Order: sequence, then structure tokens, then C-alpha cells
Amino acid sequence: MSNDFDILAIHAGKDNKVLNTRPEVPPIYQTSVYAFEDIAHVDRVLESEGGYIYSRYGNPNRDMLGESIAKLAKADMGVTTASGMGAIAASILAVIKKGDKILASHEVYGGTYTLLAKDLAEIGIEVVFVDMTDLEKVREAIDENASLVYLETITNPTMKVCDQKAIVELAKQNNAKVIVDNTFASPYVYRPMEVGVDIVVHSLTKYINGHSDVTAGVVLGEKEFCNVVNEKVKSYGASLGPFDAWLTLRGLKTLPLRMERICSNALEVAKFLENHPNVNYVNYPGLASHPQSQTAKKQFLNGFGGMLSFELKGGLNGAEEFIQNLSMIEYVPSLAGLTTTLLHPVSTSHRPMPKSERETLGIGDGLIRLSIGIEPAKDIINDLNSAL
Ligand SMILES: Cc1ncc(COP(=O)(O)O)c(C=O)c1O
Repeated sequence: MSNDFDILAIHAGKDNKVLNTRPEVPPIYQTSVYAFEDIAHVDRVLESEGGYIYSRYGNPNRDMLGESIAKLAKADMGVTTASGMGAIAASILAVIKKGDKILASHEVYGGTYTLLAKDLAEIGIEVVFVDMTDLEKVREAIDENASLVYLETITNPTMKVCDQKAIVELAKQNNAKVIVDNTFASPYVYRPMEVGVDIVVHSLTKYINGHSDVTAGVVLGEKEFCNVVNEKVKSYGASLGPFDAWLTLRGLKTLPLRMERICSNALEVAKFLENHPNVNYVNYPGLASHPQSQTAKKQFLNGFGGMLSFELKGGLNGAEEFIQNLSMIEYVPSLAGLTTTLLHPVSTSHRPMPKSERETLGIGDGLIRLSIGIEPAKDIINDLNSAL
């Protein structure tokens, strides 16, 4: 079978060899535990043959999903988890040890920020936050104590894009590992492993599942590292259940189709908003006005993703009026489903952040984040146009 991205996605899970004849669609192994014939059978499973024992340690649906995503991401192996945060926590804790320093992007997902700035700081891990789009600042901050560089491919909510190849080089010079959260891009738009990133994480809750009905995550990397992650996932109880893994594998099959539509819709919507008199500016890596448009163009493989944000001229009142005026686009504090949804960062995701800090990052009261869906672009634009 061809190794083409679209073919690998559509046929995901078909090479599972659990039975002699293969069901066209993999079954759901909805069991928490597996039975043994006798002690000799236990010995064979544990010592030589391998096999499933208990669902928190591993289950066939989880493994099929991990293998399928690893192929798409060009990784050796994928360990799936019960959420994106499960993947982020397990991957970081598999790299760092007591006394280490982490260099993290100053714009990371809120849950990741809490993990780094609070939970890891409390156990003695030094975390330094830096603007990853400024290579000079990264160069200044990195030293021999930094064992890990952590960043996101497209940041939330201002959609910044850093030069991952350059950051990988800086990290390598200092023997630090690099973890990239590639959730906003998905492996359709970009595959960080291809520029030498060591470890990639995704919240599968977003584009890879793509139907807003599952919470899941994945850690991608070399086999040896992923085996360590697997042990952490077991210990933390962050394993993905069989049904959620099955649903996510079903969602993954249409990732290329969905992303193709989403990326072209997003570019059209971004261009429309950029020319609207009630909009101050638009953050979308596919626009020439984006500060890292050249980096995005050089780095991304297919399109620029489905996430964009824009600032309304009317500030907080303007944002409230705009949200109420929309008829199709809903206020949903997640992203990457089938429908176009909106989030107002100041009232939800960035609510706990002090106003001064928000403003430094470009998150004003009138900023709206859109997750573009698969509706016809004209319907998305019509709804936005009448609300504006
Ligand atoms: C970029 C990014 N990474 C990680 C996560 C966490 O994923 P989950 O909610 O599946 O734990 C999110 C959630 O919104 C996210 O936006």
C-alpha cells in the first residue's frame, strides 16, 4: 500500500493482526482485563510472547490508534493518552529530572502553563518562559542546565509561528530535547519530526478526532522514549479507553479531507476579515501581513491550519454585540470540530491572566478566536458579515 499521507489516513487500523481474518472496521475491545488459561500462560505473556493484560497497561484500540498516528507523523511510535494534557504531562516528566531547567514558549496553552509554572515549579523544576519567535532571546536563555525546550507550532490565540529547525539546532548544541505541541497544525499541515524535533504531542480532542466527541492525546517519538512514556501513563492512570480510541481512529480517517476544506475556508475567511472596516487586524499565518508568514510558508506542508483570531474595533462591548449577532457560529471553548466556532479569550481561556500581561501578548478585549469548520466558506463569511 502506498505511503501517501491520504492513503495512510484512510486505511488507518486496517493492518491490525489480532485475528486470522480481519474485520474491515476494527472492533472495540471494550474490556478492562484479559483472561489467562493457567500460570504457564501468564509466564508466556509476561516473559516472552507479550499480550494484553489490563486496559490501563494497554489495549488493542489504543495501540492501533498510536501506530496509525505515528505513521502519519513520521514517528517511530505513538503512545495515546486520556487527554492532550495527559500526553503533555507524561512527555515532559519522561524527559526532566530533579533540578532541571525547562525553556518554554511564553505563549502556551493555559493547562500547559499551569503544569509548567505551578505544578513543576512546586517540585523544584525551573521554568523560563521565552518568546520562541525571537531566536536571540532563545539563544540567551538556553544553557547547559536546560534539558528541555517546549513550544507550540501555532500559538494560542495570536497564532505566532517560530522557526522550529533553528530551535532544534540551538537545543542540540546544548544537549536539550525539544517537545512540540502540534495540536493547532495537525500532521496534515505540519510534521515537526521532519525537522528533527525529538518529541511531538497532540491533543487528539482537536483536529485528529475532529468531531468534538472525545478527549484524548498522543505522545510521538522514538521507541525507547515512548516505552518510558508508556510506563508513566500507566503509573499516572492517564490511559485512553478503548471506545474513545476507536472513535478517534474513525475521525482520523477523514483528517486530510477535513483539513483541506478547513485550510482553504480559513484563508478565505482571514482575507475577508482583513478587509472589513470593523476589524483592526487578523492573526493568520497564511496572510502576508502575519509577522511570521515567511516562516510558516517555508515550514508548513499543506495550508496554514484552521485557527485564526482578529480584533474588533469595538472592544469588549463590540465583542459582546458581535457574538450575540451571530446565527450559525457558536461560542464554544474548544476547537477543531466540524463546525465553525468562536472563543473570546479574555472572558474564557485567558481570564486568569492579568490584563497588562494579556496586552503585552496582544490579547485585547476585542480579540475573537475562530476555529474554522467544514461548512461552505460563503456561509461562514455571510454569518460573520451580518454580525459585523
Ligand atoms: C494547543 C493545545 N494543547 C493541549 C491542549 C490540551 O488538550 P486536552 O483538552 O485534550 O487535554 C489544548 C486544549 O485546548 C490545546 O489547545
